[in-house]
Amino acid sequence: MFHKDEYIARRKQLSQQFKSGILLFLGNEESPMNFLDNAYHFRQDSTFLYYFGIPEPQLAAVIDLDENQVTLFGDEMSIDAIVWMGRQKTLAEKANEAGLTQLAPLNQLDQYLAKAKTQGRTIHFLPPYRAEHKIKLAELLGITPAAVKEQASVLFIKAVVAQRSVKSALELIELDKASVISADMHLKAMQLARPGMTENELAAAVHQVALTAGGQLSYPIILTVNGQILHNHYHGNTLKEGDMVLNDSGAETPMGYAGDLTRTFPAGKKFLPAQKDAYNIVLHAYQEAVQALKPGVRYIDVHYQSCLSLAEGLKELGLMKGNLEDAVSRGAHALFFQCGTGHMMGLDVHDMENLGEQYVGYTDDLQKNTSQFGLKSLRLGKELAEGYVVTVEPGLYFIPELIDQWQQSNEFSEYINYDKVQAYRDFGGIRVEDDYVITSDGFRKLGKDLAISVEEVEEIRSNAF
Ligand code: GLY
Ligand code: MN
Repeated sequence: MFHKDEYIARRKQLSQQFKSGILLFLGNEESPMNFLDNAYHFRQDSTFLYYFGIPEPQLAAVIDLDENQVTLFGDEMSIDAIVWMGRQKTLAEKANEAGLTQLAPLNQLDQYLAKAKTQGRTIHFLPPYRAEHKIKLAELLGITPAAVKEQASVLFIKAVVAQRSVKSALELIELDKASVISADMHLKAMQLARPGMTENELAAAVHQVALTAGGQLSYPIILTVNGQILHNHYHGNTLKEGDMVLNDSGAETPMGYAGDLTRTFPAGKKFLPAQKDAYNIVLHAYQEAVQALKPGVRYIDVHYQSCLSLAEGLKELGLMKGNLEDAVSRGAHALFFQCGTGHMMGLDVHDMENLGEQYVGYTDDLQKNTSQFGLKSLRLGKELAEGYVVTVEPGLYFIPELIDQWQQSNEFSEYINYDKVQAYRDFGGIRVEDDYVITSDGFRKLGKDLAISVEEVEEIRSNAF
């Protein structure tokens, strides 16, 4: 945890955004895998973590804006729990670490909110992403589960997003740490991989680096010879000479901050010539996108820049043709790049995605384009500001089913040479990704340098075996 003053200051800053009412925070609960006592690794809710820091289950908190009072709701461990789990900190100890003095048993939250409701006070709450929270909120507030999402407080969402978007110096130290561990995960994979090994063996080694650093993964590992499958969590293939391995993996520090890196490398020592050409197109798009990062620039324009760069490279390969600016604005490049160039990152790998992409990545003036294929998957479009942490992750993905579907319907045939594209149907996918903080005059890469050019990657691979 950070020092208690950090949490006190965060809560104060948040409270100043409201005139009256109650802010309700639900911490996460244990989530059973297959029976109650066999739970998934516990992960605290990120907003709870941000304002209260306590990484433990079965807690809730309330900021009473009218009484200027913060109450932590929770229970002391029972003797049975101590027998099985060992003694943990008391509620008072936990509260003290978060700068809280007012405590109440968890079962009093119900009465507390009921009283506030009868007094006609506004109870602000955030939209839940776990079913148990949806049910709990419905019960606490006396509404149906279906009504919970629509009654979530937009004011609360916007205030949290504004605050959590700008990372403090303390948070940047954590985010740097996460990116350093993530870089070590990638170096490990590049050093260890060889033909004959399974994706599972490699993924296990990557996971080990995150665990050894005392944290967790910030998302399930994507490590695959089928890099064209964007979020591919299957690890059953065996690497063979001529394959490319796409490793998209990141660490979460013990404090809960995320890293998110991607590298693509040859399963053998060197890229094949066609792989090298495509890799350099992706790398160039990445470099152009990075150079565009600075306060005041809209990320949607960074995205257009990287799409245009990819399209130019694809035209040189003979896969695209025609006026590329038109092609990109109409979405023709999305045959090869179906997703966005990046997203916000912080306590969540896709930071605050649970609060709604429209609030996190867009503004009232810039609504997300939900109809254009490709653009609808861009999670961040709005103007960048100092202190934002973002990923930059362009890629090229050759998806046979998509190629066939577009060709059959002659989609964008003025921009796409389908005959040439068909030769790439089994090519796979390439992505590179790093994490950046926006500074007053540009950007700074988080973490440490990790091989990214063809030469740097091939050097590691040549020394690997
Ligand atoms: N690292 C996975 C993603 O950004 O979606
Ligand atoms: Mn990412």
